[in-house]
Amino acid sequence: MLAAECTPYAWTGGLGDVVGSLPTALRKLGADVRVALPHYGSIDPAVHPITTNDAALRVSMNGAVEQGQVGQVEQSPFPLYLIGSDDYFADRPDLYGYPDDGHRFVFFSRGALEAAQTLGWRPDVVHCHDWHSGLVPNWIHAARSKGAQANGPATVLTIHNLAYQGHFGEELLHAAGLTDGEFPEDPADSDPSARVNFLAHGIRFADAVNTVSDTYARQILTPSYGEGLDALLRERRDGIAGIVNGIDTVTLDPARDLHLAANFSVRDLTPRARNKAALQRELGLPVEADAPLLGMVSRLADHKGLDLLAPVVPHIVERGAQLAVLGTGDPRHHELLSQAASRHPDHVAVALRFDPPLAQRIYGGSDMFLMPSRHEPCGLGQLIAMRYGNVPVVRATGGLADTVADFDARTMHGTGFVFHRYDPIDFFGAIARGLETYRYPDAWRALMRQGMSRDSSWNAAARGYLDLYSRALDSRRPARVA
Ligand code: GLC
Repeated sequence: MLAAECTPYAWTGGLGDVVGSLPTALRKLGADVRVALPHYGSIDPAVHPITTNDAALRVSMNGAVEQGQVGQVEQSPFPLYLIGSDDYFADRPDLYGYPDDGHRFVFFSRGALEAAQTLGWRPDVVHCHDWHSGLVPNWIHAARSKGAQANGPATVLTIHNLAYQGHFGEELLHAAGLTDGEFPEDPADSDPSARVNFLAHGIRFADAVNTVSDTYARQILTPSYGEGLDALLRERRDGIAGIVNGIDTVTLDPARDLHLAANFSVRDLTPRARNKAALQRELGLPVEADAPLLGMVSRLADHKGLDLLAPVVPHIVERGAQLAVLGTGDPRHHELLSQAASRHPDHVAVALRFDPPLAQRIYGGSDMFLMPSRHEPCGLGQLIAMRYGNVPVVRATGGLADTVADFDARTMHGTGFVFHRYDPIDFFGAIARGLETYRYPDAWRALMRQGMSRDSSWNAAARGYLDLYSRALDSRRPARVA
C-alpha cells in the first residue's frame, strides 16, 4: 500500500485511520501487506524508532536521478517503510500544503516502487490510496504496455474523498516521466497550473477502483457528486466497487480506552455518566447529568455540513441542550463557532484544535454525535460514536446512509437519527427527534445498545479488499496474453 497518512505516525483524518488498521486485518487473512509512507519530519524517532537502510534510494525525477533513503519503523504492527528525502520531507512540519506537493508525491510514489525492488520484494498488487499515489497505476500500465513488466503487479486505487484530486501544472508530467501523451489532459478544462490531475490518472489506469461505501460509489457517477470526474468514472467498464470502512476495534474500545474517565460496555452502561460529567467539567460547561450533550468532531469545512450548524445552535440552546465541537479548518467556521461559544457559554463549548485524546472523550461522554455532511465517502466518526454508545445524528449521504439506521419509535429499531434534505430545518428536525427520545431512558438505552452492537470491525471489509485484489489480478490477464 502506498499512502500519505498512517496512524499513529502521521495523519490528519480518516485516510490515516484506514491505512493504520486495514493492513493488520488483511495480514490476519494471510496477505503479506506492507505499507510505504513518506518519511515526514514530524515523525519523532524518539517515539517511533526507525532503522534506516544504508543504501541510498535512487529515484528518477525530471529525467535525472535524485537521492533519498528508505527507513523502516521498528515496532509497527505491519512492515512500514518510510520514503525519505532531505529536499521533500525532512524539514517540513506539515504533511501537505507546500507549493511543491506534486513533486513531493511523485518522489514518494516512485521511491516506494524503487524501495520494493531494493528490498527484493515483489508485490502482486500495488494498492494506492487517494491522489498522492495516483500516477502509480499509469506508470505500471505504461511499463506493461511496453512489455517491460508483463508479470508486474496489478494496481488498485481506493478513493477516500473525490474532493481532493491533486491538480498540478504540466511540468509534473515531465517530472513523472509521463510525457508520451497517453492521457491527454484537457486544455480547455483548467488553467495551465492545474491541468494535470493525479487522481484522474489513477482512475483511468488502475486495474480496479473502489471507494469507501456503496452509496458513495453510486453517487460519484453523477455530476452532482462526481467533482468533475463522473464521466471518467462511468467509463470504467468494471464499475467502482464500494467497500465500507471498518475501525480498529481493539484501540477503539470503550471497555479499555485509557482516555476515558470511566470504562463501560454494552453490558454495563452505568459508568458512562462519569465520562459525561468529566467532559462537561473539562470544557467548562455546567455539569448537568440530564442536559443532553451533543458532540461533534470534524474537519470544520462546508462539506462536513458546518454551514448547517450555525443556524441550529440557537434552537439547541433553547431546548436546554449542550454542544461540544472539536476540530480545525475553515477560519470562517472558527469565527462562527467562537461567537456561538461566547454568546452561550453555558451551552456551547468549542476546541479549535487537533486533539485525538479529547476526541475520544467526546465520543465516550456526549449523548449524540452530529454529522450533517453534504457528502461523506464513508465517515468514521459515526462508527466510533456508535461503538461508544453515542447516538449519531446524520444526513443520509455516502457511508452515513449505509451505516446508520434511522430510529423508529414504534418498533424501537435503529441506531441513530437520519435526515435527508441538506437544510438546517431538516437537520434540526432529526436533532429534535433525538432530544425527544432522550427523555425516555429505556428507549435511549435500547438505541445506545443497538449502536454498540453493530460490527464495525475490519473483518468484512478486509475480505472485500482481498476479492478486489483478485479481480485486479484477473483483469490484468488479457493484457499479459496480448
Ligand atoms: C476521508 C473521507 C471519509 C472517509 C475517510 C476514510 O476522510 O472524507 O468519509 O471515512 O476518508 O476512508
